[in-house]
Amino acid sequence: MIKAELEKEFRNRFQREATYHFFCPGRVNLIGEHIDYNGGEVMPCAVSSGTWLLLARNDDKQFRFRCLNFSETADLPVQPAYTKTGKEWFNYPLGVIHHLQQAGHVLEGMDLLYYGNLPIGAGLSSSASIEVVTAFACSNVFGLHLDNISIALLAKKVENEFIGVNCGIMDQFAVAMGQQNKAILLNCDTLDYTYLPFEIGDHILAIINSNKPRTLADSKYNERFAECGAALQRLQQELDVKYLCEITPEVFEQYRHLVADPILEKRALHVVTENERVKLAGKALEAGRLQEFGQLMYASHRSLKELYEVSGRELDTIVEFCHTYAPCIGARMTGAGFGGCAIALVQRDHFDDFAEKVSAYYTERIGYAPGIFASAPAAGVRAV
Ligand code: GLA
Repeated sequence: MIKAELEKEFRNRFQREATYHFFCPGRVNLIGEHIDYNGGEVMPCAVSSGTWLLLARNDDKQFRFRCLNFSETADLPVQPAYTKTGKEWFNYPLGVIHHLQQAGHVLEGMDLLYYGNLPIGAGLSSSASIEVVTAFACSNVFGLHLDNISIALLAKKVENEFIGVNCGIMDQFAVAMGQQNKAILLNCDTLDYTYLPFEIGDHILAIINSNKPRTLADSKYNERFAECGAALQRLQQELDVKYLCEITPEVFEQYRHLVADPILEKRALHVVTENERVKLAGKALEAGRLQEFGQLMYASHRSLKELYEVSGRELDTIVEFCHTYAPCIGARMTGAGFGGCAIALVQRDHFDDFAEKVSAYYTERIGYAPGIFASAPAAGVRAV
């Protein structure tokens, strides 16, 4: 959708001109899954699709929310605090407004129109994208001078406390801090980060959307979060650690008897080995060893499937095909799982053939087609 069309939509809905335009991308995670809330290292990058926000201030002391993707609207008086009102989309920006106010910022009436071209609920962080674009816009419009890391932290708080998902910082950080053609290597405990050149030569990063509805995703996600907490607590009987990711796979083997529960052991084993894989993947990427990077992606998927159990038949079918297709050097589910997307590194001149074949393979086994597109690491939130 082009800017002029969005401006027209804004005019139709609010009978006035939009005075501000912002955009925030979504993200994929290249490797390091389900370890951000365990204090680990992750390697996400922002993608080119995302959420636009057109905005004008109003003198009516109202927050008016509209979205081209959803029919629900909300007109709410400016007041000091808000609570979540159900499952409607506008709870995400409303949560941002609430938490900005709780932090002592004063916001005034705004007309807000959103449009997103990320597949919603597909694990590409459409929620982080709408949260971060809202916080970034408020900071600009009301002169709050928030830097992008503070914006990411605030958006995480919204997700944890207003929406009720115990997510880590990865998604919000990635969409706020993304850079073109760079992957972010982020330590989720210290928030230290570096940009790695995502130079994949004659390969392409493919995103394959399983199109499986992620209905139980939030509750299953919170269940994994709780399982990691339980495993950590048992290990803390003898280990002086704050997070599971402080434990190396070797130390984990020495102490895993403390966990004393087969399910919790599997969860913790995924976490400690995945954290190691991210470190190796970072070195491989820096040295341009793409084949090794691809093998680490496959190993990550196996661990998410067998140990963490967040993959599922749909995502496994995609990765299973990738193993049989020589021009694909690595693939894995990305994001929380339970449906959503897989990513794959595919030789550029085989991309069309890959798309056709993976689609046929998937459709035959699952009964409906996946969505496939190519992406490159993109810049984070910005005024447009
Ligand atoms: C979701 C969460 C992130 C992260 C991933 C799994 O995207 O929002 O914080 O935990 O799942 O790696």
